[in-house]
Amino acid sequence: MPLTPLPDALISGQPWTALAPMQDVTNLPFMQLLGKYGAPDLLFTEFFRVHGHSALDQPMIDSICQHGTGRPVFIQLIGESLPDLERTVAEIDARKLPVAGIDLNMGCPAPKVYKKNVGGGLLREPAKIDQVLGCLRNAIDGRFTVKMRIGFDGDEHFDAILDLVEKHDVDLLSLHARTVKEAYRSEVHYEYIKRAAERLPCPVLANGNITSVAKGQWTLDETHCAGLMIGRSCIRNPWIFRQLREHFAGQPVFRPTLADVRDYIDDLFEATTHGKRDALSHINYMKKFLNFVGLGVDTDGQFLHDMRRTKSKADLDAVCQRHLIEHGRAQQLFPEEPIKGLIARPNCETPQGCQL
Ligand SMILES: Cc1cc2nc3c(=O)[nH]c(=O)nc-3n(C[C@H](O)[C@H](O)[C@H](O)COP(=O)(O)O)c2cc1C
Repeated sequence: MPLTPLPDALISGQPWTALAPMQDVTNLPFMQLLGKYGAPDLLFTEFFRVHGHSALDQPMIDSICQHGTGRPVFIQLIGESLPDLERTVAEIDARKLPVAGIDLNMGCPAPKVYKKNVGGGLLREPAKIDQVLGCLRNAIDGRFTVKMRIGFDGDEHFDAILDLVEKHDVDLLSLHARTVKEAYRSEVHYEYIKRAAERLPCPVLANGNITSVAKGQWTLDETHCAGLMIGRSCIRNPWIFRQLREHFAGQPVFRPTLADVRDYIDDLFEATTHGKRDALSHINYMKKFLNFVGLGVDTDGQFLHDMRRTKSKADLDAVCQRHLIEHGRAQQLFPEEPIKGLIARPNCETPQGCQL
């Protein structure tokens, strides 16, 4: 595996920032977009499902080879079949993909996934985790990382799983501090991140509801973790990684206005333009992103309400003009935190509900 080096930020003592893997979001166009707004230190691809007939697909390969952010990218695998995991690692090697490492998904909460004992389903069986981690550690020449939750429906295996992470020399652990059953909306149990960071020799990235610079700093202070992994909040606020870096360096932190958000929506539209997508499905795909952006626009949720009813680019432009530009809104600051009480959409915070 032609291991890409880690960036200077990782060596300079600043906390790390990482893009959380998100199915149908952290693909090539979104990674390229983040490159423009301020890429994180580490990127993770969406998960690649490993099974008896799986073979790396072109969009996955493109996201690794062409993101152009200059940042290291980790490919995430999800699976439990040892021969197929080994075969996939060999394929990554044979294709000489420029990855910084290989990440294992042990957290996906979609029932159709965990029922097959992959993703979050693995957390029920430490003995199986032992086999999977052993197999991957043995097969991977370079960095081997794991992303997991604190347990399946409780924390009874948490310490045993940390022991396995240590036993198999995992190079980095990203911990989404909820159980699989808690999915995406419950409180995040940051104390488990602290426990993992105290116990493990490898760096630990905190994940779950890191919504702003202030929340990021609070998480670092509270957990003493090595860095922050951010998912949904970088869809809402693509400047968040730049803001964190400025904050860590003691520099003034950029504050976007609603006019900047308007431009971001144009960039998103361009990035998600795809030959195979007709105009209506393009608008509908945009709504998956705008459901998160809209959490930072107005307290009464009018942007979200109107945006969800758009059927064309012209409708969307009119909604953006009304809510982000007119009546002096353009110069208003985009709120640092999502506005309380608004939700992205029932079920839209989960990969399966969102069908992103
Ligand atoms: C739309 C969507 C897709 C996701 N896909 C993946 C995935 O492919 N692999 C993974 O490990 N986690 C996935 N997750 C979970 C995120 O990586 C992250 O753990 C979770 O969203 C919590 O972080 P956040 O509060 O910063 O969003 C996904 C989450 C969302 C919202």
